Amino acid sequence: MTARSGRHGEGREGEGRAGGSSHGGGSRGANGPRGGGDRGEGDSRVPRERGGNSRGDLRAGGRGTSRGPARPTLRVFTTTLWEYPSQHYTSESGSMQGDKEYVGATPSWVIWQLLQRYTREGDLVVDPMCGSGTTIDVARDLKRRALGYDLSPSRSDIFRADARKVPLENAKADFVFIDPPYSTHVDYSDDPRCIGKLDAGGEDDGRAYYDAMEGVIGEIARVLRPKRYMALYVSDSFKKRAGQRASQSFMPIGFELFDLLRNHFTPIDIIAVVRHNAKLERGNWHKAAEEGNFFLRGFNYLFIAKKES
Ligand SMILES: C[S@@+](CC[C@H](N)C(=O)[O-])C[C@H]1O[C@@H](n2cnc3c(N)ncnc32)[C@H](O)[C@@H]1O
Repeated sequence: MTARSGRHGEGREGEGRAGGSSHGGGSRGANGPRGGGDRGEGDSRVPRERGGNSRGDLRAGGRGTSRGPARPTLRVFTTTLWEYPSQHYTSESGSMQGDKEYVGATPSWVIWQLLQRYTREGDLVVDPMCGSGTTIDVARDLKRRALGYDLSPSRSDIFRADARKVPLENAKADFVFIDPPYSTHVDYSDDPRCIGKLDAGGEDDGRAYYDAMEGVIGEIARVLRPKRYMALYVSDSFKKRAGQRASQSFMPIGFELFDLLRNHFTPIDIIAVVRHNAKLERGNWHKAAEEGNFFLRGFNYLFIAKKES
């Protein structure tokens, strides 16, 4: 079953990325996972009017329109707890970042924060699992260059490549952002190399998933320039499995990937990004979590790390 057919809404909790949002043109994502599923909360609350100021990419304009209030002003966050006010920001051009219908799209606010802090104009930003292209769009808004790769490109400016073998020379990227599959909750494509087909709580205790992610992280280290930064956005996962060990229900993906990152990078910080997810607002999920004595995922990790040499 694919994300298009609703798998994402099945009775499990865990991956739940934050929201989905609208891509104005609607022409992207023809090949990508679609359906919105449980990721639509962000945009249902977010008005669509365009705003902007003379600085171009920072503001939503102060006033609302007949379509609703303006999106809030983009500001650099200063603590390690990020709660973004909408899935997407409003750019001066009015263009959207990524694709609202893409299941698992990254909140563009998160990428904006990172590029503001860790890149400069003209820098090359690389996303080896680019999905609906959010990273490319944010990078362009901020006048950075961008290269996006994915096994299943959703638009023509994303190159088809396995994130374990990116067609880029060593030490070319000034910044790498990546938001990988968190185990098997979303069916991204039919490509057997898709890491979203590897179960982080499977019979092999997630070995295949973590081995694959080790390959991805090693490749990020190869393409990143020394003294430059990368960020990985990820969530732990919980999937109730009848008759299985508790360790197979909870998958501490965040800690495991952080451990892998340390083989190549110096940790710079860990941000907790509050998840916005329609499921989290549904009473029946909270009831199930209470009755089943498990927790709903309330945040994503954002690991920021530096390649020293
Ligand atoms: C969470 S989505 C990325 C979302 C993206 N940041 C966005 O905002 O749209 C994860 C992506 O990883 C891709 N992917 C999975 N395995 C891959 C692999 N081995 N190499 C490259 N991309 C892969 C999937 O096709 C999917 O697009």
